[in-house]
Amino acid sequence: MCLVVFPFKKENPQVVLNNVKIAAQHPKVDEVLCVGVEKEETYRSLEQNIPQLKMETNKDINLILQERIGNKRPGKGDGMNTALKYFLEETDHNEILFFDSDITTFGPNWISKLLEGAELGYPVVRHYFPRCSTDGMITWMITKTGFALLWPTSELPWIEQPLGGELLFKREVVERFLQQEEVRNRSDWGIDTMYTFYSVKYCYPMLETYISEGKLHKLYGKLTDLKTMLVECFDTIQSLRDHSLELIPKVNEMEGSFLCKGGIIHRAEHPHEVPQDVFEKIGFDIEGSLTLLMENWTPGMEDLLSVFPRRIRDGVYANKKAPSFSFLDEHTWREAYLILLDHFDINNEDWQEILFKLWVGRVLCYTTTIALRGYYFAMRYLYSMIDRYMNYSAKHKIKKAKKEEKNENSSCA
Ligand code: LAC
Repeated sequence: MCLVVFPFKKENPQVVLNNVKIAAQHPKVDEVLCVGVEKEETYRSLEQNIPQLKMETNKDINLILQERIGNKRPGKGDGMNTALKYFLEETDHNEILFFDSDITTFGPNWISKLLEGAELGYPVVRHYFPRCSTDGMITWMITKTGFALLWPTSELPWIEQPLGGELLFKREVVERFLQQEEVRNRSDWGIDTMYTFYSVKYCYPMLETYISEGKLHKLYGKLTDLKTMLVECFDTIQSLRDHSLELIPKVNEMEGSFLCKGGIIHRAEHPHEVPQDVFEKIGFDIEGSLTLLMENWTPGMEDLLSVFPRRIRDGVYANKKAPSFSFLDEHTWREAYLILLDHFDINNEDWQEILFKLWVGRVLCYTTTIALRGYYFAMRYLYSMIDRYMNYSAKHKIKKAKKEEKNENSSCA
């Protein structure tokens, strides 16, 4: 039996209440927990309506405020970690399930599918969804790119939607997550990346199930809406970069191959169906995002840009006069990303703005050269871009390992 959790901030209370009701009516759900950030309108409305829902469904439905657990910006991470703590300390359920509270396409099958995965024995089960070709731009350009460049032979770059908030963990997973300081501290948008990373690091078998009706929720406007999330997701990857996830074989065992020895069981359901609106939707406001490149320049940013090679520096800098982004193709983005990993500082607003401008430029370059060519073309491109990043990085790691081994041998001799 299980606990279903809806973390929420300011949402349409009717949407949240409807989702809570669907969850409470599910025969395999024991308890529903809503975790709010503060006592604002949505919270009050849930507070008022929950007693009635409890009577109707005859289920335990609770509403709590998130605790201050982490040391980053208090956000979604504190909310999810509060729910994990509650699950361990206040209940003896076997599984915890998370769903975003603002989904308008939520249904009982979303719960059943996660639970079926758990019944098959997977301690981690995640949903993934069809998304339009200009959606998921943090996922593709930051998270999957970072996973591919930093841990190219691990399972991480293969996870469909590593930032997805619809997932199930068994109790043993939650216990280990909460013992981990890095997970507890991640109180902001970086929490999804953390959970994904540690699921792989701890080698938990993982199933990804496909929800073909898609996740309809509030649409993003200008890319500024995503700035905080972008910065926090990048900071999380940067903070994890020294973890080693793969056993790179010694050169003499390798015989030219770079397969990892470790690895996890990771299965993904086939994406059988893509709804029509996913082909047609545009993920963000393109015109509004163009002007973002030209705004908010500070003298400090110009100094920081000096760590980039001239081509990148000049390309970003040109935006002071007119939008410039076509230079941010996949190779230039890889180069910029690796430099950002070394130099980015989340506590410096100028760095945040540089990361943001580079990412907006990358997204616009992709949108105007790739996404424009249709859904299937764009999807093929995004998957193969990640493949190319993995191959590039794996080859470099092997070269480096070979060189190090050679140096070791020659110093022994
Ligand atoms: C993503 C959303 C936040 O990148 O756009 O997954």
